[in-house]
Amino acid sequence: MKDSLFLKAAFSEQTERPPVWMMRQAGRFMPQYWEIKNKYSFLEMCKTPEIAADVTMLPVDLLDIDAAILFSDILVTGEAMGGDLSFTQGVGPKFANPVRTQADIDALETNVGDRLQYVADAIKVIQQRLNGRIPLIGFAGAPFTVMSYLVEGGSSKDFKLTKLMLHNHPEMAHQLLSKIATVTADYLNLQIAAGVNAVQIFDSWAQALSWDDYTEFSHRYIQEIISKLNRKDIPVISFCKGSSVFAPLMAEAKPDVVSIDWNVDLLDIKHRLPANVAVQGNLDPHILYADKKVIKERIHRLFERMRGENGFIFNLGHGIMPDIPFNNVKYAVEVIKEFRY
Ligand code: CP3
Repeated sequence: MKDSLFLKAAFSEQTERPPVWMMRQAGRFMPQYWEIKNKYSFLEMCKTPEIAADVTMLPVDLLDIDAAILFSDILVTGEAMGGDLSFTQGVGPKFANPVRTQADIDALETNVGDRLQYVADAIKVIQQRLNGRIPLIGFAGAPFTVMSYLVEGGSSKDFKLTKLMLHNHPEMAHQLLSKIATVTADYLNLQIAAGVNAVQIFDSWAQALSWDDYTEFSHRYIQEIISKLNRKDIPVISFCKGSSVFAPLMAEAKPDVVSIDWNVDLLDIKHRLPANVAVQGNLDPHILYADKKVIKERIHRLFERMRGENGFIFNLGHGIMPDIPFNNVKYAVEVIKEFRY
């Protein structure tokens, strides 16, 4: 594991090429995912360690990437706290009992390690299968993003109810965020104790927030979580959509890596962060729909730009879309693995 390009780059050490993994690599763009998905519900897949391990291993075996990511979901913390969670094809995640009142917030559990034990069990099975080949990344949702699902009761375009809580009832919002942050820190430490080699915090909807609201309602809870992690030798990656704006603040929470969306020049943002903070990113995932020569050209363009920089992990600016052709993803990984600085 010491030779892992991913871990070296995460700790800003020199590598002969950028390591590669992709957000949402353990998912629907792979025909083999559907073979499993057609037999089980999404939550059954997450909660059955052998199946979660099977799905985690798909991109490892089919794409030969440099890091695996646990197959699970950011919303399992919300479920463990008492959310009645379901996933319906074409609808997405739903919490049938949204959190909107003080009583709803008071009712949420924070001592939920037992309810998330299945994740620790999955991690142990996955590590047996990986057998030291590549690192395993664990993850959790950031408090603001998880809060948005709990308050809205599902996905949202404008986060109207969530923002109303932030603006009209900030004290309630802080209680809710604080409970989620406590659970999230414990949950990531549970994953670390079970054997993950890195952790990523996903704040997928941070871009909906103003600078002031991001600072008050998202950043400080991520900072709290990171400060509580048992992180010796475990790099911490902080991802948000909106990182082109928020990256300097994200770095203040002291992650090892900041994962950057595709709106910004990666070298420019790297130079605006402390030298010991690595960057991950930032190809527009839509490039993977394009012709192979475009895919290759855009990857090389990014790598030439980052040449000479330690602390660069290739990723997409956000997750792979489910209808991206599998062969294009495979081709992108081949192009990346052939590259040398
Ligand atoms: O990266 C990986 O491959 C690991 C597994 C993973 C999943 N979800 C599996 C999944 C990870 C890291 C996530 C994180 C996640 N979940 C995020 C943050 C990541 C990001 O892209 O910003 C968010 C916002 C969610 C919430 C969520 N889960 C949504 C909105 C959906 C469904 C809608 C959609 O089209 O994405 C899910 C379901 C989900 N999570 C699936 C998978 C493979 C699809 C389930 C299915 O097969 O129906």
